[in-house]
Amino acid sequence: YTAELDANDLEKGTYPHFMLKEMDEQPAVLRRIIKEYTNEAGELAVPQELIAEIKQAERIYVVACGTSYHAGWVGKELLESLAHIPVEVFLASEFSYNQPLLVEKPFFIFLTQSGETADSRQALVKVNEQNYPSLTITNVKGSTLSREANHTLLLHAGPEIAVASTKAYTAQMTVMAILAESLRREKGIEKSFDMAHELGVIATVIEGILSDKEDIHEIVKKELADTRNAFYIGRHMDYYVAMEAALKLKEISYIQTESFAAGELKHGTIALIEEGTPVIALINEDNVASHTRGNIQEVKARGARTMVVAMEKNAIEGDDVVISNVEEMLSPLTTVVVTQLIAYYASLDRGLDVDKPRNLAKSVTVE
Ligand code: G6P
Repeated sequence: YTAELDANDLEKGTYPHFMLKEMDEQPAVLRRIIKEYTNEAGELAVPQELIAEIKQAERIYVVACGTSYHAGWVGKELLESLAHIPVEVFLASEFSYNQPLLVEKPFFIFLTQSGETADSRQALVKVNEQNYPSLTITNVKGSTLSREANHTLLLHAGPEIAVASTKAYTAQMTVMAILAESLRREKGIEKSFDMAHELGVIATVIEGILSDKEDIHEIVKKELADTRNAFYIGRHMDYYVAMEAALKLKEISYIQTESFAAGELKHGTIALIEEGTPVIALINEDNVASHTRGNIQEVKARGARTMVVAMEKNAIEGDDVVISNVEEMLSPLTTVVVTQLIAYYASLDRGLDVDKPRNLAKSVTVE
């Protein structure tokens, strides 16, 4: 691997775990990405050849695995709402064997921290056989998927060692946000907020979350200590974060955790709620806040022990974690950090190997 890295990145230093170090690096990674993608005119931008190629596409297909797949859903929302390009998101392992009916002019984005994941590579091989244009967004310069795609955008997150991905996920969403912003500007679509400013604010908000780690540790001790299962619920962007939050918690604490679109609970899953089942609700956006609150009441009435992570403007008395206001569309960047910490402490308190969970590998190079 030839990632651009600081010599120190391969050492834990005073940290007990790489995961903790990598979570802590997130504000710095965000700032580095902003710097790397700021052009001479002071605007956030990706290379012009890439923009020109994507502009010709009728639809973007995002293909990825695991945490990268979850970042893909957030990327879809950013590209659709800022740049007005329709996007579909696929699991690489599904795409390779069941290619969807594509539009005439597709563009493919491969999201892969390592750039080596076999499932994603297999999908890219298929895409290349059909001569479709592609971009790999990766943390590893010169990685296989980077070499085999037409374009590469680097995450500049520094090496990620812990199996549970943290800073690569926030970096992927940030680079997707910058890509969406570049396309928006190029297409002359009016801006609804200042992306560069907002990403800077988010780096500061993440710092705040990371400086209050012990509060989250207390919640974990109190609410997740002996549980065998847990649920994350949310709507829209919060649902996408819930998917990643559930993956993080299950992969390192072995608590069976599922994520649900809050409104879908009543169509089956609510049958699983018993006395004491932990349900963590994520609430960021105005237009879904009251609906998710309603779902919290429904699970509470069936005995769930609920925890709420909310953005300040939609928070109410008694919420467990309140996060400073940020642009709603970018709220996954802040919310996920809370859920990373929940997973970290749940694993730590169970005495598990935080950085090397059982049965998992950092980079899966077999299909
Ligand atoms: C493995 C890792 C996950 C990761 C996934 C995709 O399963 O354990 O953390 O999200 O691979 O990896 P990639 O390098 O393609 O993003």
